[in-house]
Amino acid sequence: MRRNIVAGNWKMNRTFEEADDLLFAIADPLQKLDLGNTEVILCPPVLYAEMFTDVALENNFSVGAQNCSNHESGAYTGEISAAMLKSMDIEYCIVGHSERRKYFNENSEMLAGKVNQLLDNEISPLFCCGEVLEEREAGKHFEVVGQQLFEGLFHLSADELDNVIIAYEPVWAIGTGKTATPAQAQEMHAFIRSLIAKKYDQEIADDTTILYGGSCNAKNAKELFALKDVDGGLIGGASLQADDFLKIVQSF
Ligand code: PGA
Repeated sequence: MRRNIVAGNWKMNRTFEEADDLLFAIADPLQKLDLGNTEVILCPPVLYAEMFTDVALENNFSVGAQNCSNHESGAYTGEISAAMLKSMDIEYCIVGHSERRKYFNENSEMLAGKVNQLLDNEISPLFCCGEVLEEREAGKHFEVVGQQLFEGLFHLSADELDNVIIAYEPVWAIGTGKTATPAQAQEMHAFIRSLIAKKYDQEIADDTTILYGGSCNAKNAKELFALKDVDGGLIGGASLQADDFLKIVQSF
């Protein structure tokens, strides 16, 4: 179902006490806001999941993880399974973030496996796609994003896809302060929707939630979220500043 969503990706930031402070700096005001139909998801380091899920419902947000294993269970030292996330009341999980693709060599096959594990455990994948700068400059951005979607997501049935959120995150915009222009964001989001329409149908395409990510902040969120095919944002740096994140949440 298509919704307005703002998701905060804390990445590998904040110790336990710092996370506690930031959580309540966001959660207390959030509880008092009239969010309409906007949904807020916080994706902290998964180690702190319980601290977040304990207060999520009464404070108007859901909890997401930043990663999970593509394996079901067993001898995979250091890994965390989708079933474990589910058992900690986690409802969402980021998959295919460009940092995981780049630094941890995650390929499409692994990402499709993670998507499957998550759906098997009734967790909604937040599937990231996006091109690097050289690909955009070479005019290959549509091809690259299309391939990421075909290889990582389009093996799903229509019913399964209904539980997936897509995030378009141009890699050159992540953490750089260089946001995609509204025209660039709208063009890619419309393209992603057209691919879904071709592979599935128009109704499913219209029902899919597609977020923008990459230097989205308190100043530019309103303009981006107003775009026809942009349904919210996946926020990195600005999700670590309570005031900024709360402004973004109110940018629809
Ligand atoms: P950023 O990160 O907002 O700091 O650019 C976005 C992301 O990586 O999801």
